[in-house]
Amino acid sequence: MFSSLSAASLLSLVLSASAFPEYRSLAGLSAAEVRAVARTFQATPGAQPAPPPINDTSSKLVFDDAHPFQPDAPGDIRGPCPGLNTLASHGYINRSGVVTPGEIITAVQEGFNMGWNLATFVTYGAFVVDGNHLTNLMSIGQKTPETGPDAPAPAIIGGLNTHGAFEGDASTTRDDFALGSNFLFNETLFDQLSQAAIDFGSNGTLDIPSAAVHRHNRILDSIARNPNFTFEIPRYLTAYAETTFPLAFFVTNQTSDTSLTLDLDVARSFFQTHKFPDNFFRRNGSYDFPELDPLVLEIFEAFPVLPGNNEGVGNYVVDPEDPGFINGDGLCYAYYKQSNLTVALYPDPTDELRTAIAQNLGTFYTALGDPTCEQVFPF
Ligand code: HEM
Ligand SMILES: *[C@@H]1O[C@H](CO)[C@@H](O)[C@H](O)[C@H]1NC(C)=O
Ligand SMILES: *[C@@H]1O[C@H](CO)[C@@H](O)[C@H](O)[C@H]1NC(C)=O
Ligand SMILES: *[C@@H]1O[C@H](CO)[C@@H](O)[C@H](O)[C@H]1NC(C)=O
Ligand SMILES: *[C@@H]1O[C@H](CO)[C@@H](O)[C@H](O)[C@H]1NC(C)=O
Ligand SMILES: *[C@@H]1O[C@H](CO)[C@@H](O)[C@H](O)[C@H]1NC(C)=O
Ligand SMILES: *[C@@H]1O[C@H](CO)[C@@H](O)[C@H](O)[C@H]1NC(C)=O
Ligand SMILES: *[C@@H]1O[C@H](CO)[C@@H](O)[C@H](O)[C@H]1NC(C)=O
Ligand SMILES: *[C@@H]1O[C@H](CO)[C@@H](O)[C@H](O)[C@H]1NC(C)=O
Repeated sequence: MFSSLSAASLLSLVLSASAFPEYRSLAGLSAAEVRAVARTFQATPGAQPAPPPINDTSSKLVFDDAHPFQPDAPGDIRGPCPGLNTLASHGYINRSGVVTPGEIITAVQEGFNMGWNLATFVTYGAFVVDGNHLTNLMSIGQKTPETGPDAPAPAIIGGLNTHGAFEGDASTTRDDFALGSNFLFNETLFDQLSQAAIDFGSNGTLDIPSAAVHRHNRILDSIARNPNFTFEIPRYLTAYAETTFPLAFFVTNQTSDTSLTLDLDVARSFFQTHKFPDNFFRRNGSYDFPELDPLVLEIFEAFPVLPGNNEGVGNYVVDPEDPGFINGDGLCYAYYKQSNLTVALYPDPTDELRTAIAQNLGTFYTALGDPTCEQVFPF
């Protein structure tokens, strides 16, 4: 474990150029270790303000000459999110997959017209637990040999692939962590998504009712087979949100009065290949909380499942503390959950780290845009 290294071995570690990548989280390190490691970074800008909202949210060609598709080069990182993977493979964010939260917020707006509040809330909800607060960098996927040694438990750090911090169970085309790969495209699951579209969608395309069927099937499968199935906020909310995303974002030339149907070959292009279909135009008008909320509720109400977790295979127990979609308190609860997890990950921050974490939690709170949710200041 990194924190139990002797001073001498720590020194030799930090002196070797690739020992501690700048995007690796500093969670779990002691104050002295953070100071030692920070001296090896080229830049420690700390927390940065979120970039502003884009002003022009009209539809436009986004698979343009400035953003050619390139297959992954050796060392490029991709992860569980087909949206971010696609933006990386087209250069809207660094093709390496090692990015700043600001790059993500601008890119999801530019490439897909995700609304600023939703983009910033999701990005910082992930960044506070999966990113590096001093370098302001995060991996959109897996740990690689360059990610350096693990931080001590409970901080299992590896970018967005990290299970249980932001990434969770019952994903659309990725397996549960306890059952297989939680970040690689899974053909069996994509086939199940396709079958839902064929059986229940509009003329063989994915639509909201058929996406709701697949969402429910994924939950039932996890209940039946994953003894560790966990389905609580924030994952509970992101699971329903991610079910709307292919309809909201992957349909080309979509207008504001969208018909919300997605061809399965276009779906595959995003989910598997991380590639915009030819001539892809982003949606017309942003997709933010006001657009997300009714679709999420439609999907939930088709097959309501309350937040909870398995206590052994087939034994799903509802968590009465978790508000789920009740009273609209879910996002505020997600903010408290991520704040608490961040505290658990950083029990002993340096002043520099404390300042950066506090600022990032502030940005996360601001994105919520809800004055009825009381801000907390744990750092
Ligand atoms: C705003 C920043 C974003 C972050 C930090 C993010 C992160 C993630 C993560 C960590 C997952 C895995 C969820 C899990 O398995 O528990 C995920 C899934 C997903 N994301 Fe994103 N995402 C973002 C934006 C987007 C955008 C803009 C799109 C669409 C254009 C998108 C589409 C999806 C879809 C469809 C899934 C489900 C993947 C599957 O299981 O097949 N995301 N995202
Ligand atoms: C949008 O317009 C406002 C007001 O003109 C400006 O301050 C802001 O920088 C613009 N945003 C972008 C991303 O250009
Ligand atoms: C992209 O990431 C690579 C490796 O992490 C880095 O060397 C490069 O400077 C980055 N490019 C930009 C434009 O940020
Ligand atoms: C499942 O949960 C048990 C008990 O919490 C834990 O010991 C085990 O490591 C977990 N396994 C996986 C693959 O998540
Ligand atoms: C894909 O997911 C299915 C269902 O969980 C699983 O049985 C299968 O092993 C996975 N395939 C791969 C290649 O991981
Ligand atoms: C349904 O799909 C088939 C084959 O993809 C196509 O030929 C037909 O025009 C579609 N019908 C409607 C009503 O969209
Ligand atoms: C999208 O709309 C634009 C402008 O109306 C058009 O030029 C383009 O061909 C359309 N793209 C697709 C894939 O339908
Ligand atoms: C985009 O949405 C705006 C506002 O709803 C509307 O005025 C405009 O006609 C739409 N453009 C297209 C190409 O659908
Ligand atoms: C966060 O931690 C505080 C202090 O321990 C606790 O009172 C609160 O219930 C926790 N909130 C959540 C949502 O976990």
